[in-house]
Amino acid sequence: MPSHVVTTATQSYTCTVQNGISLKIREFLPSGAGKVFVVTTPDVHALYPDHLAGFEVLHFPGGEPNKRLSVLESLADQMLARGADRSSVLVAFGGGICGDVGGFLAAIFMRGIPVIQVPTTLLAQVDAAVGGKTGVNLQGGKNLLGSFHQPHAVLIDPAVLHSLPPREYRAGLFEVIKHGIIASPELFSILAHRSADVLAQHPEILEKIIDESVRIKAAVVSADEKEGGLRRILNYGHTLGHALEAETNYSLLLHGEAVAYGMLAAGHLAVITGHLAPEIAAELSRVIHLYGPLPALSGITPEALAAHIYKDKKTIQGQTHFVLATAIGQTQIVPGIPHSAVVAAAAAALA
Ligand SMILES: NC(=O)c1ccc[n+]([C@@H]2O[C@H](COP(=O)([O-])OP(=O)(O)OC[C@H]3O[C@@H](n4cnc5c(N)ncnc54)[C@H](O)[C@@H]3O)[C@@H](O)[C@H]2O)c1
Ligand SMILES: [Zn+2]
Repeated sequence: MPSHVVTTATQSYTCTVQNGISLKIREFLPSGAGKVFVVTTPDVHALYPDHLAGFEVLHFPGGEPNKRLSVLESLADQMLARGADRSSVLVAFGGGICGDVGGFLAAIFMRGIPVIQVPTTLLAQVDAAVGGKTGVNLQGGKNLLGSFHQPHAVLIDPAVLHSLPPREYRAGLFEVIKHGIIASPELFSILAHRSADVLAQHPEILEKIIDESVRIKAAVVSADEKEGGLRRILNYGHTLGHALEAETNYSLLLHGEAVAYGMLAAGHLAVITGHLAPEIAAELSRVIHLYGPLPALSGITPEALAAHIYKDKKTIQGQTHFVLATAIGQTQIVPGIPHSAVVAAAAAALA
């Protein structure tokens, strides 16, 4: 079975990609495990009751507004009331929100218990569940309260994606495209030439693209757990993507869709600044559009997006760092990109 090892300073664990693996959670429990608590949302539990039979199941309402510390406190109270102790194990079974909530709860419950991540959205499978970032939102911003808590294991089951709303699935595919652009010409080629199979979730193709994405994320995280250097390449398309999410009040676009726009802009920016051949940028755009349509944007100006980027935390003295592709599968972190180039790239992406 395809599996990838993440090795960090604190822990080493496997991320296994296999159809049906989400039915085998018990096989992956740490030795000496006490009670097993599953954090999930009611909708996902209703879809997969057999997967969670025999565990202590804790529900929280999904959605970004519920990714809050108050939800964690209530879940922790329920765990204690149901007999949790230091030997308990937590399983986060759901999308990225569930993984962040369950992972952070495990990080702080009795100063830390093991968590097994069982991601059930494509975004969570190829991104959120791998790497140990956990956290919740504050009123003032997303993911501002959290910690690194590497999981005991990550069980990635492509078979659960069939129930995902198609738009959520396509949004996750944009993070897969990102992995292809930054690190894998082979993955990019599958996305470029097998889009019908990818969109139809052809089992072999789906397992292949998830596996390759997880391989890349696992390798990057192993090399750079806490985003000191290499991990920054995972932010490809995210600078403008985050600006767009904020400018549209986190309501119009799914995260992956915002990243898709961000990757379109990054392609233009790489051409404008002389880092990428125009014909390769055109191919990147073509493949992104294969997995559209992206929601139309109205009333968003390139100037507003650029302004947002230049007041972002990654900006130092009016200059900002961008992750740019220099070829398919290769990136460079480029400092000192002028404001005017960002406006031009954003305008081209929004056109
Ligand atoms: N920790 C990290 O490194 C990291 C990385 C990327 C994103 N994130 C976080 O992930 C979150 C987004 O995750 P997401 O896109 O998975 O959204 P999500 O968790 O909200 O899930 C999307 C929707 O799909 C439903 N769902 C989940 N699995 C399903 C299934 N198999 N079938 C049908 N419906 C299903 C969910 O209940 C939800 O309504 C954000 O909060 C983001 O900050 C974290
Ligand atoms: Zn992302």
